[in-house]
Amino acid sequence: MLPLLLLLLACATPEVRPCLQCERTVKLMHDNYVLSEPDALKQIELQKIVDYADVTFRETSQSRMGVIDFTTLYRARTEYQSEFDRFLKSTTGSTNEAVQMMEKAREILEKHLDAFIPDGLCPNKCGLLVRRVMDCNSCLHKTYTCPSPTGQQHCGESRVNAEAGGQAVLDCFLPWHRLILGKPEYHYLWAPEVSKEKADFKVLVVTRDSSVVLNQLQVEERGTYQCLLKNQSGTVFYKVIFLLSVTALPTQGPRPVVTLPSLLYVHSLKWKDALVPVICLVIACSSAASLSLLFYAILLKNVWKRQKAKSLKRTNLLQSQFYSLRMHLNKKDWERQEKEVLESSGVKLTIELDQKKREKGKKTKLS
Ligand SMILES: *[C@@H]1O[C@H](CO)[C@@H](O)[C@H](O)[C@H]1NC(C)=O
Repeated sequence: MLPLLLLLLACATPEVRPCLQCERTVKLMHDNYVLSEPDALKQIELQKIVDYADVTFRETSQSRMGVIDFTTLYRARTEYQSEFDRFLKSTTGSTNEAVQMMEKAREILEKHLDAFIPDGLCPNKCGLLVRRVMDCNSCLHKTYTCPSPTGQQHCGESRVNAEAGGQAVLDCFLPWHRLILGKPEYHYLWAPEVSKEKADFKVLVVTRDSSVVLNQLQVEERGTYQCLLKNQSGTVFYKVIFLLSVTALPTQGPRPVVTLPSLLYVHSLKWKDALVPVICLVIACSSAASLSLLFYAILLKNVWKRQKAKSLKRTNLLQSQFYSLRMHLNKKDWERQEKEVLESSGVKLTIELDQKKREKGKKTKLS
C-alpha cells in the first residue's frame, strides 16, 4: 500500500512549482499538510487540491507578465504562511476547507502581483532598466528589460543657477537606478556654454555616487553638465542635463586664493576612508603633547635638583669654614672672620645687629 501511495504522490507532484510555490517553505508546508492526513485516500485528494493550486498560481501570474520580484514574492509568502498557520489550527479536516485555503493563497498572490506589476516592475518613466526577476513558471532567475517609455535614454534637462564663489550640487539619482543589473556608474561631463556636439564634452568625474558638488564656483564654470548612468560596456541607462549659470557678484573684489582639497575628491571619499587619517592625527597630536609634558617635567626636576645641590654645597662650605675658624681662632677673631665669610658669600646676616644688641646690654649693665 505504502509504495503505491508514494508512487502516486511522486507522479502527482509536478516538476514545476509556479510562483508562490517557488518558495521552498511553501512547497514544504503543502507537502507536510498532505502527509499529515492519516487516511490514504484523503491524502490523494488533498494532493490533487494542492496541485490544482499550482495551476491557479501559474494562471494568475501568466496573466500578469509571468514574473515576480524577490521582495514581492517574500511579502506574498509570509502573508500566506501566517494565513496557512491559522487554517491548520481551525480546520476540521474537510476537503472543502482545503479548497478554500488554496483559493485564498491565489488571492494573496494576485493582490501582491497587482500591486507590483503596474508600478514596481518597470518604475522607469524614462531611461532603460535591466533588472533581475523570477520567472513564475520555471522558478528561475531571469533578466527583465524595461525599455524607456519615451523610447530614449535622454531624460530631459534642468536649469541650475548659482553665484560666483558659491556652490552648486548636481544630483541625477532616481530610486530605480538601484535595480539596474551590474554596477553602473555615473559619468559627469561638462561643456562650456550650451553645447550640442558630443566631442565638446569633457569628463569631470566617474563615480558610484549620483551627485557632484561644485565648490568655489567661477563664472567660467557655467555651461552644460551631463549626467550619464552607464555600465562598463558603455550601455547608457539614463541621461540628464543640467544647464548651470554662474552670476558674477557686483561687488566682487580680488578673492584670496584658498587652497582646499577638491570637493569632488572629498565627496567620493567615504567617511570610513576619512576616519583613519583623522584617528592617526589625533594619536600623533596626543602622543606629541604627552612626550613634551614628560620632557618638561624631567627638565624641571633636574633644574630643581641642581639648585638644591648648589645651595647645599654653599651651606656645607660655609659651615666647614666656620667650624675650622672656631677651632683655631679666639672668639673675637672668629666673629670677624665669620662676618667676612658671610659678606663675601653675599648673604646678609644679623651678626652686626647682634653685636650692637650685645654692646647695648653691656652699657645698661654698667650704668
Ligand atoms: C551592460 O548592459 C548591457 C545591456 O543590459 C549588457 O548586455 C551588458 O552585458 C552589460 N555589461 C556589463 C559589463 O555589465
